[in-house]
Amino acid sequence: MKIASILENQKIEKRIAITPEIAKKYISLGLEVSLSENYGSHLGIKDEEYIKLGASILKDEKEIITNTNILVQLTLLDEDKSSLLKENQSFIGVFNPYDNKDKISNLVKKNINIFSLELLPRITRAQSMDILSSQANLAGYKAVVESFANFEKAIPMMMTAAGTIPAAKVLVVGAGVAGLQAIATAKRMGAIVFATDVRMASKEQVESLGGKFLTVEGTENLETEGGYAKEASDDFKKKQEELLSETLKKIDIVICTALIPGKKAPLIIKEDMINNMQSSSIIYDLAAIQGGNTAYTKVDEVINKNGVKIMGESNILNKLPTSASNLYAKNVFNFVSNLYDKENKKININLDDEIIEKTLIK
Ligand code: NAI
Repeated sequence: MKIASILENQKIEKRIAITPEIAKKYISLGLEVSLSENYGSHLGIKDEEYIKLGASILKDEKEIITNTNILVQLTLLDEDKSSLLKENQSFIGVFNPYDNKDKISNLVKKNINIFSLELLPRITRAQSMDILSSQANLAGYKAVVESFANFEKAIPMMMTAAGTIPAAKVLVVGAGVAGLQAIATAKRMGAIVFATDVRMASKEQVESLGGKFLTVEGTENLETEGGYAKEASDDFKKKQEELLSETLKKIDIVICTALIPGKKAPLIIKEDMINNMQSSSIIYDLAAIQGGNTAYTKVDEVINKNGVKIMGESNILNKLPTSASNLYAKNVFNFVSNLYDKENKKININLDDEIIEKTLIK
């Protein structure tokens, strides 16, 4: 049984799916590992490191793709490479099935087993495979670090002989995995942190991290059975707008993380709300790639509106690709271990297993 991975398009993706530590684990599991040349060199990992562990490094990516049983990646391959995939091969990654419907259905038609890991159920048994949590956690941390680095004032309160510097005020919109890590990071650095969410369950989590939860009064709890957010009603949106309009006037840094699975990100911070913010404030929009939580967000651009900077990147994880790869590769390994039948040395697509059934694209 063979598992392989090829270098991603470096312009959009710097993470890797097989780190040396994980290559070793696949080999212990009884799989042969093949990687393309210079697979991890942009992260300081030399080919020799993989070779020493028993993995093969091959020049010809086409050969790697056609000879493997399992291909693990981050993103979908370009057409010239994905067309090489054939029946019964398994292809595992984060394929964004809502946006890539056509490309994926072409592969499914060829009877290729496509597993998209953002579809993993949020159940206890899948926690070690949960790429959404591992990556969102890092994204929440990095969004705070990036916005603080761009903020032209100090973050913690400082009482000095020359006067007192007040602590910066941070608002986190959306207190899921990324939002909670953003709250924890901002608190550690001395900011006063506020947060809001449509799910009432998040109130206790925000407060346990020392954040102040802003409740949109008189509204229902907008949580699905799976723990995700439902789209807010017009009444909720109006009340949220009133609450945030007032709050934003005194906020220095906003970290936006609000998402609704399979939908465009909700527009929460509108033009007039930004126009009323203090100049020199920063908004870091982690929802940028899904359309953004603010009216002005533009992917990979810093927009300046009367001194308020609005930032949002296509892939913030490219700013800490080593940490992100370490966690991602472990998540994928745990997924493959569950899929691989060690005794019979084959992939076992057991559709009674919720983890397999939910991630396999049919
Ligand atoms: P997400 O990335 O889909 O959304 C981020 C946050 O934005 C969510 O908390 C959501 O409620 C919030 N949001 C959406 N629309 C909003 C709006 N209009 N205004 C304010 N906030 C809004 O969510 P994420 O981070 O993936 O977490 C979703 C749920 O999954 C959470 O309940 C989390 O605790 C749960 N979870 C469960 C795990 C498990 O293994 N049991 C593992 C990880 C997360």
